[in-house]
Amino acid sequence: MSKFIYRVGPETLRLSHREIRVEDAEAVLAFNGNPEVMKLTGEPLWTDLEQTRERLANYAEFETHGFGRWGIFHKPEGQLIGFSGFKYLPELDEVDLGYRLLPEYWGRGLATESGLACLRFGFETMGFERLIALVLPENAGSMRVVEKIGMHNTGPIQIDDETAYRFAAERPDWLARHTS
Ligand SMILES: CC(C)(COP(=O)(O)OP(=O)(O)OC[C@H]1O[C@@H](n2cnc3c(N)ncnc32)[C@H](O)[C@@H]1OP(=O)(O)O)[C@@H](O)C(=O)NCCC(=O)NCCS
Repeated sequence: MSKFIYRVGPETLRLSHREIRVEDAEAVLAFNGNPEVMKLTGEPLWTDLEQTRERLANYAEFETHGFGRWGIFHKPEGQLIGFSGFKYLPELDEVDLGYRLLPEYWGRGLATESGLACLRFGFETMGFERLIALVLPENAGSMRVVEKIGMHNTGPIQIDDETAYRFAAERPDWLARHTS
């Protein structure tokens, strides 16, 4: 377990990242409860505000691992518009970068902006050696994002009865290709 808890993530021109709190439940349900958002994530739709509050209250990833998924805040409006950040996957013993946004924010380069900042923060500040992203083959938009942020396709893997591509980035190689 990390000695430090990274409750706040990177800041970019348009975005900031921080731990999601119970009081963010309505904003979280707006994306996790949106069928268009969830369709290609391989995860079930969230349906209920009370259950969302409960899940957020029980979310212990930051305490357990020192990191988790951060809420993405769109700085011009100060609004929570999605999540981005890291999750430890015990079944693979890997750390996964994941992201999702409300549809009205798609197509503006925001997932790329967030993903690039998270990779840099993950390698430079948090000290990860390797980060992965799991993408369903039919998720063309996400496939493009992982390519744009400099992750490479390591091939298909089987997760929960679904085939996903595992993209990866290794610290020395990624940092050498992304000088700030
Ligand atoms: C995937 C997602 C995060 C992308 O967010 P975004 O902010 O629109 O991404 P960006 O604008 O940074 O980049 C998207 C890229 O994908 C491309 N793209 C989007 N939809 C596409 C599609 N159906 N086919 C091919 N390319 C597509 C865009 O043109 C853009 O590439 P470009 O910059 O070369 O033009 C967003 O669509 C989302 O939240 N989807 C639902 C949740 C999800 O699937 N998360 C990922 C799970 S692995």
